[in-house]
Amino acid sequence: MMLQDPAILQTRAFIGGSFVSATGGATFAVVNPATGERISDVADCPAADALHAVASAETAFRSWRGLLAKERAACLRRLYDLMLSHQEDLARLMTAEQGKPLAEARAEVAYAAGFFEWFGEEAKRLYGEVIPANAHGRRLLVLKQPVGVATAITPWNFPLAMIARKAAPALAAGCTFVVKPAAETPLSALALAELGCRAGLPAGVLNVVPGTGAAEIGEILTTDPRVRKFSFTGSTPVGKMLAGQCAGTVKKVSLELGGNAPFIVFDDADLDQAVAGAVASKFRNMGQTCVCANRFYIQDGIHEAFAARLAKAASDLLVGDGAAPGTAQGPLVSDRAVGKVEALVADALDNGATLVTGGSRHPAGRRFYQPTVLTGMTMAMRAAREEIFGPVATLFRFRDQREAIALANATPFGLAAYVYTRDLGRAWQVAEALEAGMVGVNEGVISTEVAPFGGVKESGLGREGGRAGIEDYVETKYVAMGGLGS
Ligand code: SIN
Repeated sequence: MMLQDPAILQTRAFIGGSFVSATGGATFAVVNPATGERISDVADCPAADALHAVASAETAFRSWRGLLAKERAACLRRLYDLMLSHQEDLARLMTAEQGKPLAEARAEVAYAAGFFEWFGEEAKRLYGEVIPANAHGRRLLVLKQPVGVATAITPWNFPLAMIARKAAPALAAGCTFVVKPAAETPLSALALAELGCRAGLPAGVLNVVPGTGAAEIGEILTTDPRVRKFSFTGSTPVGKMLAGQCAGTVKKVSLELGGNAPFIVFDDADLDQAVAGAVASKFRNMGQTCVCANRFYIQDGIHEAFAARLAKAASDLLVGDGAAPGTAQGPLVSDRAVGKVEALVADALDNGATLVTGGSRHPAGRRFYQPTVLTGMTMAMRAAREEIFGPVATLFRFRDQREAIALANATPFGLAAYVYTRDLGRAWQVAEALEAGMVGVNEGVISTEVAPFGGVKESGLGREGGRAGIEDYVETKYVAMGGLGS
């Protein structure tokens, strides 16, 4: 892989302001999922390195929190600028380790950088409150203070953005930060550390601990008493376990967990818009996002036309190495991911679904799966209940609004939901009735640093992005001052 700035390819952990080998010297291979080629060997950190990172973050917290908000903001702004000036290199690195098409990787770099810009600005507006006093001679104040050391475990599907979404508000608020990136995609995280260093982040403010020992590193990040806040993006079962581990020291916890997004298309929808939104929602990152449409509910009158148009759009997507020009669909992240998609499609077909397009692996390689559309889905099928996390669109029919809402909400998950209609009243009614943290109305991709991202039910706790995103990294302190005279 040719990089304009080869120094962003870092392979050692970033702790206390330096790149260091893992204690014991172990490494693990990072492999390109499109080609199977080894990109590089990365430090495989044991628990001792996570402890070291927490200690560094604790030391750095004392001075980082004491900077003026505008001084922290200036650092985050420099990091934003550096990310954008390295957009192409960061995108190439991301595509190599994660597989997504270069165009999507470039967009993710800009999305990730946006969190540092937005939260840097927000740092200056972390206002407290003065409450009208309840007695003469008193003054009642509310202060917003950084929580302390914040830790995170982040996933492979968005190797930069999921770190930025947590690190940016943490650092803006005055917290220091330790992240364990996914073992599949540590290079984007380490490149971010390199740029953070160049942006002038003081030693210990941002620490990156790569490793294959998720359980042992995770245990430190969730149980060490010096850590005051933990944030996780990943599966619901793992999130529940990690939240349980945090309970012992009553840490603040944010969880961004699995989804099972409904995508509802009413007869009155603009068909072109609905199909474009469906493709964007379903096939972004090869279907490997928590907010991907997982169940398409299509009203009877538009069902045939929608299915035909979506199948045509899906089969037109160019599948191949994400680094090749024009690629729209790269590989899935692992053999296991392909196996799961195969099993869900087989289950649907065995139980009466109809294959409209795709339905098997793609000749581009063993981790590639054809963009697929199935109709005749029922709620009894596994794909109705489980996150597909692959390029498979499953279409269900519905008769009326009441039925669509009931079907959409028939899940323990509640992250994103989508509705397509040109009826303004219906848009409001459905958006309000859907049990989801985020609703796209005539929009298939809704993520942005300026708005609160997060789920309800078993899809998570807390919000990332927007004004709410910094609240999870601050404590609210009430100060009552008495004896002041009247
Ligand atoms: C995710 O899949 O968790 C994040 C998707 C996004 O930010 O759009």
